[in-house]
Amino acid sequence: MKSSLKYFVLLLCLKFIEGSFRCDYEYSSKAQAWFKSVVVPANWFDARLRCSQEGAVLASPKTPEILAEMRNIMNRSNPEYEIFTGIHATVSQGDYYTIEGTPLSNILVPWSKNEPDNKDNVESCITLNGNGELADRPCEVTRPYICYRPESSQVEVSECGTIDPDYHLDKRTNKCYKFHTEPRNFSRAFLACSAEGGHLAIINSDAEATVLKEIYAKYPDAKLLGNFRKDLAFIGFHDWGERWVYRTIHGETLKEAGYNKFSPGEPTNIPEQTCGGIYRTGLLLDLWCDRPAAFFCEKSPGYPVVCRASP
Ligand SMILES: *[C@@H]1O[C@H](CO)[C@@H](O)[C@H](O)[C@H]1NC(C)=O
Ligand SMILES: *[C@@H]1O[C@H](CO)[C@@H](O)[C@H](O)[C@H]1NC(C)=O
Repeated sequence: MKSSLKYFVLLLCLKFIEGSFRCDYEYSSKAQAWFKSVVVPANWFDARLRCSQEGAVLASPKTPEILAEMRNIMNRSNPEYEIFTGIHATVSQGDYYTIEGTPLSNILVPWSKNEPDNKDNVESCITLNGNGELADRPCEVTRPYICYRPESSQVEVSECGTIDPDYHLDKRTNKCYKFHTEPRNFSRAFLACSAEGGHLAIINSDAEATVLKEIYAKYPDAKLLGNFRKDLAFIGFHDWGERWVYRTIHGETLKEAGYNKFSPGEPTNIPEQTCGGIYRTGLLLDLWCDRPAAFFCEKSPGYPVVCRASP
């Protein structure tokens, strides 16, 4: 109780600090923004998605200050390499904009030698190299990248340690939950929870199953838009490629995790149904991994840690 009180006070303080964001980002006072360098290369589409799900955007050198910070970051990791920027023409070939909508013509960064060349007419994404020069590349190649979030004093960090207002703390389990109403396949659902600093929900007790059931009840079918099954949602277990043996995404059997109540007739163990789900009743089932469904994320209130902008 004492420690949870301390925690609460800490969170209360955080809530009113202007300009806070997750600590895996670094604040630059010159650029007045938060930056995170992602060294594992990804194609442009995945890079964009990951930044956006973390509450940021794929960084573009929109201003000299941002360019300087991007070059700083690159210089620290691998100056010879190039990274993806947010500048792209993926919607209409040749119409280049940053993610935020700044046209390429407003970006005052020189091109690298012999660039842009739109080689083979397939280059719609723009990279930045260690000399601070741009080049056009196919969006499907993989490059490291930087996520960027402009400073904004309106941000309020919730008791869930996130700026995402859809995470709510449940006192019974002392964890935060978010129900995603936009359906994704299992892999994309996993990514979404992970990028938000959490993971697909793992049920550790009957009480936690009740918590999810109650959250689900707040989203009747009519609130879930689109053509997909509304009576079931993904949670964090699957068969890890071994048929009929279900384990949580953290590697425990369901029994070890603390909850293994399947709905009558489930699991069906149909070969393609190898991912875990929950019915509105709170009982479990096996689901098609590749068919989009709504899903539950869970995160601990203290992760990722929230930092304040330091001058
Ligand atoms: C990169 O780092 C080196 C060594 O710290 C430094 O001398 C150089 O000026 C840096 N270059 C840029 C563009 O920041
Ligand atoms: C999941 O969805 C994404 C995006 O729609 C797609 O690229 C990916 O191939 C899908 N994965 C599976 C296993 O169906």
